[in-house]
Amino acid sequence: MCGIIGCAGRKKAQEFLMQGLKKLEYRGYDSAGLAVLNGDELKVVKAEGELNKLAEKLNSRSLEGSLGIGHTRWATHGIPSDENSHPHQDCQERFALVHNGIIENYQELQEDLEAQGHTFSSDTDTEVLAHLIEEIYEKDMISSLQKLKEKTTGSYALAVIDRKNPGKIYALRQDSPLVIGLGEKENYLASDMPALLNVTSEFKILEDGEMAVIDSENVRIISADNQTVKRAIFKADWDAEMVEKKGYEHFMLKEIYEQPIVARRILGEYLDEYQVKIPELNDIWDKDIERIMITACGTAYYAGLVGKHVLAELAHLPVEVEIASELRYQRDFLTENTLVIVVSQSGETADSLAALKKAQAKGCKVLAITNTPGSSIARSSDVVINIMAGPEIAVASTKAYLAMLIAFYLLALKLAELREELSRKKLAVHRRELLRLPEKITATLNRVEKQCQKIADYLKDQQSIFFIGRNLDYSLSLEGALKLKEISYLHAESYPAGELKHGTLALVEEGVPVIAIMTQKELAPKTLSNIKEVTARNGRVIAVVSGGIITSQEDLDEVIEVPLCNGLWAGVLTVLPLQLLAYHTAKILGRSIDKPRNLAKSVTVE
Ligand code: F6R
Repeated sequence: MCGIIGCAGRKKAQEFLMQGLKKLEYRGYDSAGLAVLNGDELKVVKAEGELNKLAEKLNSRSLEGSLGIGHTRWATHGIPSDENSHPHQDCQERFALVHNGIIENYQELQEDLEAQGHTFSSDTDTEVLAHLIEEIYEKDMISSLQKLKEKTTGSYALAVIDRKNPGKIYALRQDSPLVIGLGEKENYLASDMPALLNVTSEFKILEDGEMAVIDSENVRIISADNQTVKRAIFKADWDAEMVEKKGYEHFMLKEIYEQPIVARRILGEYLDEYQVKIPELNDIWDKDIERIMITACGTAYYAGLVGKHVLAELAHLPVEVEIASELRYQRDFLTENTLVIVVSQSGETADSLAALKKAQAKGCKVLAITNTPGSSIARSSDVVINIMAGPEIAVASTKAYLAMLIAFYLLALKLAELREELSRKKLAVHRRELLRLPEKITATLNRVEKQCQKIADYLKDQQSIFFIGRNLDYSLSLEGALKLKEISYLHAESYPAGELKHGTLALVEEGVPVIAIMTQKELAPKTLSNIKEVTARNGRVIAVVSGGIITSQEDLDEVIEVPLCNGLWAGVLTVLPLQLLAYHTAKILGRSIDKPRNLAKSVTVE
C-alpha cells in the first residue's frame, strides 16, 4: 500500500533508493519515483508503471547526492501516471515529499490553496501536502509539520526533503507505518523493515503523531507535543537472505515450499511434548472471559474462521469472527469479558488496527496473532503470538496463513488446558499430533505438486470455479477461492456444500469445475451427496480429501489426497494443494504472480 524509502548518508542515494524500492515493490507497483538532494540542487524523477520504467527513465542519468527519498505507488486518488507519481512538489520546487495513506480533507485544502495562488499538477491527495508546507513554512520544518498535522485529517506517513535544508529527511507518522533504520554514518527511513534488511537490522519505530529528523549522524524523534523522545532500538530477527528468491521462479513458490520450516519454527517456539508455552496468556486470561471475537481481513480473516472451529471444539467457548472493516463500524456486543484476537501478517492493516482500538476502548483484552512483532498491532496488543513465518514477499499470503492456523491450534490447546476442558491424556495426544505436522506438510508438497500442475491446465480455460466444503472445510475452501482469484484473475467462489443448491447450482453446467474439500470424516458423506448434485449437471468435480476419508471415487473426476491427520489439524495440509492449484493456474496464464494487478501487500488505508 505505497512504499516509502529514504536515506541520509555517504553513498550515492540513487542506487540505494532503487534497491529499496525494489524491495518495497510488493506494497505498490503502479508507479514509482525518487528525489535526490545534492547541496541545494533537488532532482525529481518519476514514472508510471513498474519500477523498471523508472529505471529506464534514469538509465542515462546519474543523480549526484547522498540524500534522497523514493516511493512506489498503489493508486488511490488519481490514475497511475507520471504526474500522479510521487515525490510531489510545491510551486517553488523547494520541497519534495512522498506519502502513504489518505488525506481525507484534501479537496477542501486544495480549494483554499488554489485560492491563495497555488497551482496543482496532479489529481492526488498528496500534492496538497507539498503546497501546504510551502504555505505554512515559517522557521523550521518541525513546526510546519505540527501545523500540517492540525490542518489535515486522515491517516498517513510522510517523508519530506527541503532544498534549503540539505542533509536532512523529515518524517511524520499519523496512523501509517514508518521505521527508521540505523546505519554506520548513515540512517534510513522506510515503510517496513524488510526494505532495509540489506543495510541494517537495527530500527527505531515511529509511533503515531511522532515526527523525526534524520541525517547521516543522528536520528531525532519528536513527540506530538514537541518533546524529544528516547526510543529504544528494535532488533529485527529477519535477515537480508530471507527476502531473496533463492532460485525459485517466484516468491510465492518459495514461500509455499518454506512451509515445513515455518511450521517447525512456530511449533518449536511454543510447544514441546509436555506443554503449550504462551506464558503471557496466563496474565490476561481470567475465568470471566465468556467469549472470543476474532477479527482480521482477507486471508487472515479466513485463518480466523478455521480458528473459530478449533477454539470452539477444544476450548468450548463461543467464538465469533468478524471482518475488521465491518467490526469497526458495527453495533457490537464487546465487553470486558470478550477476548479479542486480531490476526494480521503485516500487523499494519488499517482496518484491523482500528478494530483493535475499538475493542480496547470497550475494555477488551487483545491478543494479536502476527508475523511482525514490531508492528502497530503487536505493539498495541496485550499478548502477541509471533507466527515466525519470516518475511512474506508475495502479495498472496501462503506461509503466513499456514502459520496463523498453527497459532490457533496452539491457542486452542492452551485455552482447553486453562479452562480444564480436556484431560491431560487428550492434551498430550493433541500435542504429539501437532509435532508431527511439519513432516506431513513436506509429504503433502511432494505428493501433490505434479497433480496440481495437471489440474491447473484444465482450470486455466474456465470462466468460473466453485469451491465447496462443510464447516472447517468450508473455511478452507474460502481461502482456496481467494488464492485462485487473486493471482489467476479467474472468477472463483466458495460455498458451504449444502448451500450450492439454494441458487448457485444454476451456474453449474457441463465441465464447470467444483473443487470439493473433505477432511472431516463425519461430514464427508454429506458433501458427497452435494457432489452428486454437481455431477448430475455434468460439472467436473475435483476433490481434495484427507487419506482414507472417502471409500469410493465414484462421481469424482480428480482426487487430490493429503495425508490423514486429526480432522482439526487438516487445514495445514489441505491448504497446500489449494495454494499450488492457484499458483500453477496463474503461471500457465502468464500472470504477474508475486504482484497481482490492483493489489498490494500491506493495506494501510481504510
Ligand atoms: C491475500 C492476502 C490478503 C491479506 C489481508 C490482510 O492473499 O494476503 O487478503 O491477508 O490484506 O493482511 P494482514 O494479514 O497483513 O493484516
